[in-house]
Amino acid sequence: MKREFAVVGMVACIAVGVLGGWFIPSPIPGAPRASLLDIIQNRGYIIIGTSADYEPFEYMNTSTIPATIVGFDVDMCNWIADKLGVAIQWSDRNFGGLIAACAVGKVDMVAAAMTYTVNRSSFLAASVTYITVGQAVIVRNDSVLTITSLADLEGTNVGVQSGTTLLQQLINASVTTYTEFITVDAMMLALIGGSIAAAYIDEPVFLAWSKTYPLKMILQTGTEDFALWTRYGEPELLYEINNVILDSFLDGRMYDNLEKWLNITVT
Ligand code: ARG
Repeated sequence: MKREFAVVGMVACIAVGVLGGWFIPSPIPGAPRASLLDIIQNRGYIIIGTSADYEPFEYMNTSTIPATIVGFDVDMCNWIADKLGVAIQWSDRNFGGLIAACAVGKVDMVAAAMTYTVNRSSFLAASVTYITVGQAVIVRNDSVLTITSLADLEGTNVGVQSGTTLLQQLINASVTTYTEFITVDAMMLALIGGSIAAAYIDEPVFLAWSKTYPLKMILQTGTEDFALWTRYGEPELLYEINNVILDSFLDGRMYDNLEKWLNITVT
């Protein structure tokens, strides 16, 4: 009998010890967390997700071999990389997949003329916004289409890029006769070739294409603000991104960039 008591006692002691160890925090501290900023600086490059189909913000300069991604957003990203002391590895993706790619860590940051929206900011952390642009319904010069609101597009085959605020606006306006395009290049070629009757796009992109192709704007709907995006829980990186943007307004680089890529002179 005595022996049984001893065994039960031992088992009870072990159980209490194990359970106690489970609940009592360890006095030995864990390794300090490596921030995404540390990781980027240690690896020597930042991975930036974009959709390089959006002149003048990000597009392929095919006159270099290999082709390089250039544009308004690209210059901003170069300032950020310089500030961090790292290079850039561009990750050119479908626009509609950029938010998920950043949220799961395939890219460190997104720079893609991406409008700030409350909905997007539930998935990613936005920078301060850096530019405000108009949204435009565009057609070929020879088109006779006239509209006074987005809703008037119902019945017209209007092209729009997947995953964009522009698509969401068409849906909100109860337009059902739209065609989604993965890339803006494909959409613009469809418009020029006549397989769609109109397209809904950010106005500077229309202005860039209208330098080469006979296009006109038939409606300007509103304006949206663009931000850079990174994942939540990385305040060190977001702080650097925001500082570079704010500094560029203070030292004038942002205004030079507006002039260079959008021909906008701020006086
Ligand atoms: N500004 C729009 C949006 O945020 C369209 C952006 C498309 N960007 C691109 N690189 N294709 O939804």
